[in-house]
Amino acid sequence: MASTLALLWRCSLIVLVLAQPTRSSTVQKPKDAIAEQKTHPSSSHTYIVQTNHLAKPSQFATLDRWYSSMVATHSPRATSSSSSRLMHTYETVMHGFAVRLTHDEARRMSRTPGVSGVYESRVRYTQTTRSPEFMGLNETLGAWQDSNFGDGIIIGFIDTGIWPESASFNDTGLGPVRSSWKGTCADASLCNNKLVGAKVFTAELDGALTIRDKVGHGTHVSGTAAGADVRGASLFGFSSGTARGVAPSARIAMYKACNTEGCGEHDLVAAIDAAVSDGVDVISMSVGVEGSTNPQFYDDVVAIAMFGADRSGVFVVLGGGNGGPGASTVVNVAPWMTTVGAATMDRAFPATLNLGNGAVLRGQSLYARKANGTGMLPLVYASCTADDLTPDSIAGKVAVCDINGTAVQSGIYAQSAGGAGIVAVDSTEGFREAVHGQAFTLPGLTLSYRERIQLDAYMSSEPYPVASFVFSCDTVTGPENLAPVVAGFSSRGPNSVVAEIMKPDLVAPGVNILAAWSGDAPPSEAETDARRVEYTVMSGTSVACPHVAGVAALIKKVHGDWTPAMVRSALMTTARKSDNQMEAITDSGLGGGRATPLAAGAGIVDPPPAMDPGLVYDVGTLDYVEFFCSLNYTAKQIRRFVPEATRCRSTLEGGAANLNYPSLVAVFDSRTLARTLTRTVTKVSAQPETYNVIFAAPAGVDVSVTPTTLVFKGQNEKKNYTVEFRSQEVKPAGNLEFGYINWSSDEHDVNSTVGFMWKD
Ligand SMILES: *[C@@H]1O[C@H](CO)[C@@H](O)[C@H](O)[C@H]1NC(C)=O
Ligand SMILES: *[C@@H]1O[C@H](CO)[C@@H](O)[C@H](O)[C@H]1NC(C)=O
Ligand SMILES: *[C@@H]1O[C@H](CO)[C@@H](O)[C@H](O)[C@H]1NC(C)=O
Ligand SMILES: *[C@@H]1O[C@H](CO)[C@@H](O)[C@H](O)[C@H]1NC(C)=O
Ligand SMILES: *[C@@H]1O[C@H](CO)[C@@H](O)[C@H](O)[C@H]1NC(C)=O
Ligand SMILES: *[C@@H]1O[C@H](CO)[C@@H](O)[C@H](O)[C@H]1NC(C)=O
Ligand SMILES: *[C@@H]1O[C@H](CO)[C@@H](O)[C@H](O)[C@H]1NC(C)=O
Ligand SMILES: *[C@@H]1O[C@H](CO)[C@@H](O)[C@H](O)[C@H]1NC(C)=O
Repeated sequence: MASTLALLWRCSLIVLVLAQPTRSSTVQKPKDAIAEQKTHPSSSHTYIVQTNHLAKPSQFATLDRWYSSMVATHSPRATSSSSSRLMHTYETVMHGFAVRLTHDEARRMSRTPGVSGVYESRVRYTQTTRSPEFMGLNETLGAWQDSNFGDGIIIGFIDTGIWPESASFNDTGLGPVRSSWKGTCADASLCNNKLVGAKVFTAELDGALTIRDKVGHGTHVSGTAAGADVRGASLFGFSSGTARGVAPSARIAMYKACNTEGCGEHDLVAAIDAAVSDGVDVISMSVGVEGSTNPQFYDDVVAIAMFGADRSGVFVVLGGGNGGPGASTVVNVAPWMTTVGAATMDRAFPATLNLGNGAVLRGQSLYARKANGTGMLPLVYASCTADDLTPDSIAGKVAVCDINGTAVQSGIYAQSAGGAGIVAVDSTEGFREAVHGQAFTLPGLTLSYRERIQLDAYMSSEPYPVASFVFSCDTVTGPENLAPVVAGFSSRGPNSVVAEIMKPDLVAPGVNILAAWSGDAPPSEAETDARRVEYTVMSGTSVACPHVAGVAALIKKVHGDWTPAMVRSALMTTARKSDNQMEAITDSGLGGGRATPLAAGAGIVDPPPAMDPGLVYDVGTLDYVEFFCSLNYTAKQIRRFVPEATRCRSTLEGGAANLNYPSLVAVFDSRTLARTLTRTVTKVSAQPETYNVIFAAPAGVDVSVTPTTLVFKGQNEKKNYTVEFRSQEVKPAGNLEFGYINWSSDEHDVNSTVGFMWKD
């Protein structure tokens, strides 16, 4: 029981919000693995063996026979036949198989001709009623009407499974799925014209192979992106209204590669492979490795698989992680992935704590209240574990606890010890506002760091501090809640693998989002929470990601022939930089203030203009090969992505920053004070148009753009422009500043963010 709790706690940290940097040690375990190796020489691990199918020796009639022979040769086992030992074979986004091997066997396998890579499978973790309207979607006009609500577009979710009976997956009014769709359902009786595919790649801890979601995460993300209209959805009356996905008529295919313990990379790759082979249009994957350094792309088997998906024309979107607000915490940073950060929307669940000295602290709560408030109650600090919350310490009192994934669980412990309430406080200065509501079982609320300082001051000035709760109104929506604000937990750039590609790409609503929930999981992260609900509120980049998947589905419906890079360009060049007060978007991490592109990327996704961006920055396979060459990848490393690649003939002239990306980065060092980048824009709107450039750069940097006017006669026309950046001075290493390059016509604005970095 204890270990299950620990596992749930770990998962929910990622799912629900707070980063736990120490988790990386549980994720990667390189040292443990070696230690284990020494004590149990025969112990095995799951490996993903990537092959270059073009190099299959001719004596093997099929790839499967080749793989079985490899396994039999390098990893003989008496007990089972080598073919039955293959856990998965991969044949669409890449070639290869998953198998359990010892460390030595894996090493021998990696030297076999035709094997392009052997990767130990690591564990990754999973990281709405009003959000579509908040993003500017309107039932009667614009993007929803133009795209017919995304009807027929298929979004594949790589996640924890789904709760098929949820009203969000009701298919009333939807026609049959397109005939080219190859997906199937593990249990056909669970599928319909909304849920059109359901495949299982991982077992639950008890061995059950079921599409059912034991966590809730997969149900929530699929409802957020593509849930049907459900009237009267709410969590205990909070946030009530019509629950509806961003693309309410898009179809859902669930590929279950995660269980309550996490997601094995060998299962994730199998799920990606199947989704692409089935024919999804979009892949949404709210899963990442938190708090660890990102490997180079050629050593990252999930990045390799997602490259294959992109090559097949599938738009892939991932959460950037909940490791903020520190620098370089963003994960899933390859340029063929669209990486999403989390921001608030204009909805809050206010609750107040009235201190004995008359101060009023405003927090948030999803307490299913049975009263409008409480009388004055004694406040005590507690560490809020089960052992700590005893009747002696807590009966009749309010426990003040640090916020972490266990706040609701702590409340349950407090309640069973006779506690009168819980105040969950934010202990990290990085997390100022953007507090997420929690579904407490007793009077309770969460306070931000700012309020926490006031509470501490009061509690230290008073021998017997007291406070009362007021739960006056349920849900407040509108301009009185400043939004969007980038959430403190949202992971930040710079990109730790390739600084020249700015990440995250953009932000989307990811705080306090209501969406469908599993009937087999509590509405909080608390294991002993026995409540079951149809809808719950969740926060994290996990929730931001499917918002962008939904918008991508709307774009795909209108522009079926666009490449994934064109879709990403449309999302980024039209993203909004201002909030609902018409001021620059602010950042609740690191002391507030204006959000830089390292936190907000290109801004908050804005579906109406994204449907009609005017110009796009496209990228094809050959551009990526040049990009890899610019990173000095060897031909062998490049063949992990593009098996037919030979050797680098040309590299991108300006280095990796010259990839035709919708944002730009100029890196300067003491030897290089000038950078020249070329970009190619493709006209995607029909009418002839003339675009003029406006740009800005920080003091001390000169920019020249050639030409300054681009004249387009018609659709699909491509034009190049060149930008020269010149730094007049060597600024201190690590210095980071920002500017922009905006192309505007009478009809369209195509805006790019530019980052300027100084290195040693
Ligand atoms: C949708 O647009 C119509 C027409 O402009 C407007 O009356 C309505 O208020 C809008 N709805 C929302 C939810 O913004
Ligand atoms: C789906 O929605 C329709 C219309 O609201 C309703 O009549 C039907 O019972 C629902 N189906 C299921 C399986 O809940
Ligand atoms: C809570 O307040 C509302 C009005 O604000 C009142 O109608 C209701 O009776 C109150 N409930 C309780 C339990 O006091
Ligand atoms: C919550 O986090 C704090 C600080 O990291 C820790 O001291 C405390 O034990 C945690 N609470 C629980 C219940 O795990
Ligand atoms: C893009 O830039 C133009 C000016 O070049 C500006 O008018 C417009 O507001 C910008 N759009 C966004 C979404 O920031
Ligand atoms: C690639 O190699 C060249 C030549 O050795 C070097 O100048 C460049 O800095 C290297 N680039 C990267 C990204 O390592
Ligand atoms: C644009 O630049 C690319 C290489 O960067 C070149 O291949 C292409 O011919 C150029 N196109 C035009 C229209 O100049
Ligand atoms: C250009 O676009 C950026 C964001 O992309 C925006 O912040 C800036 O205000 C725009 N420039 C002008 C002159 O409008």
